[in-house]
Amino acid sequence: MDVRKFDSVEALNQAAAAMIIEAVKETPHLVLGLSTGNSPIGVYQRLIADHRENGTSYKEVTTFNLDEYEGLDENSPQSYRYFMNEQLFDHLDIAKENTHVPSGVGDLAENCKEYERLIEAAGGIGIQLIGIGTNGHIAFNEPGTSFESLTHIADLSQETIDANAKYFPSPGDIPSRAISMGIQSIMNARKVIMVAFGQSKARAVKEMLEGPVSTELPASVLQGHPDAIILLDREAASLLSN
Ligand code: GLP
Repeated sequence: MDVRKFDSVEALNQAAAAMIIEAVKETPHLVLGLSTGNSPIGVYQRLIADHRENGTSYKEVTTFNLDEYEGLDENSPQSYRYFMNEQLFDHLDIAKENTHVPSGVGDLAENCKEYERLIEAAGGIGIQLIGIGTNGHIAFNEPGTSFESLTHIADLSQETIDANAKYFPSPGDIPSRAISMGIQSIMNARKVIMVAFGQSKARAVKEMLEGPVSTELPASVLQGHPDAIILLDREAASLLSN
């Protein structure tokens, strides 16, 4: 893995955004895997600023998001589809029909299969941007999830429910299940860019990079990815041996 440490979150965001912008310029029809949560917001702000200032176009780009809560649709401010529209898609020249977020409503099992079909039909994901949960999860692949998993219905761990409850009006409102791309779906991406910052991520980052490859720490699977770039700030890197 290519591990890069930055003195500030701003520098980290800048580096991640630059990689994506370069890739979009080089491959205008790039298939981009995207994520939600606090981690990618600064990257998205830089993509939007670059689009406005330099005109980088996303007209031919296709996107696939990692996950979505069960029972929430695009009208729910807590849904990941709503988040993506608000934080990124509404501010780029991307065609909405080329942006994909798993659907958490309707026949979930069918939605999972359809999502994998769509990724395959698009030619697979070129670059996948991801964060990491405090328990080492990637997307909503909680500890214990099979490394062979494709898009599936995921039960959220109590740690994840507690960590994400802050985004909901009241803690009891957070769904306990989600649709998530699987670990294999993420490993299938040709390049993975992880952004992790803050002290709360330090333990998971250390175990991901220095621990054994184990389903108990889902992100450790990235040790076997041929092109994974891990961008860390000082705090997230603070427990690393070197
Ligand atoms: C969430 C998401 C993940 C995200 C992680 C970290 O539960 N499903 O995709 O990477 O947890 O979230 P944050 O970036 O807010 O710390």
